[in-house]
Amino acid sequence: MDKYKRIVFFTGAGISVESGIPTYRGSGGVWKKYNYQDYACEEAFHRDPEKVWDFHDQRRAMIESCEPNPGHKIITKIQQRRPKTSIVTQNIDGLHQRAGAKRVIELHGSIWRLRSPENGTVVENFEIPLQERKCGDNTWWRPDIIWFGDALNQETIDSAMMALEKCDLLISIGTSAVVYPAARMPEIAINNGADTIEINPEKTPISHLFQRSIRDSASRALSELFPEFVGN
Ligand code: APR
Repeated sequence: MDKYKRIVFFTGAGISVESGIPTYRGSGGVWKKYNYQDYACEEAFHRDPEKVWDFHDQRRAMIESCEPNPGHKIITKIQQRRPKTSIVTQNIDGLHQRAGAKRVIELHGSIWRLRSPENGTVVENFEIPLQERKCGDNTWWRPDIIWFGDALNQETIDSAMMALEKCDLLISIGTSAVVYPAARMPEIAINNGADTIEINPEKTPISHLFQRSIRDSASRALSELFPEFVGN
């Protein structure tokens, strides 16, 4: 693995499973328990912002009680030793950052940021629960999350594309690859000639695109790929 200098770690909910954060679609998945049309889309927010904020406050509290796992920490150590390493995540939990990672490209935003629908102001907020849900007389703070039906932030897409077009190794970890446009992104690295590894206990619709698929958990697979980065 030493020959790779520009690695992209492309992560999904699976990398946070070992921290205790449920995935969206697997057994016990968030969307198995909650209908995203009632909690995680613009229509739901307009219909009942209190209900949407109750759901997001619950998720903030649950995520806050979880810690980064060895998988997050190995990726941070690799980024520290190989500064051209990029992290492109679909996750909103902020665990890569809590593990010390820098310049994390968050395709779907962050549960730790709020956005004003009035003027687009974005602020970080880690209150559990959020103390003031309104940012104006009759305007509610909106979680700065890309919900179903939202367009991704163009700057974020551009940063992700740049990293994927330049990488020499793409490691996709813990994503079911069913949500677009994120699910198309590995192809960009593949088309640029990068080597590719998928880490996922299960097969995905894009497994066939990868040179190598490791059917294992994120931290065990990363420990085996990068033994020199295991431990403190
Ligand atoms: N290590 C690695 N992968 C794992 C682990 C583990 N320990 N446990 C489960 N997985 C895999 C599952 O096999 C599954 O393929 O993680 C994947 C999680 O898939 P999803 O729950 O669909 O999560 P993700 O792919 O990140 O979802 C993408 O969908 O709901 C939207 O915006 C949300 O960002 C999210 C997007």
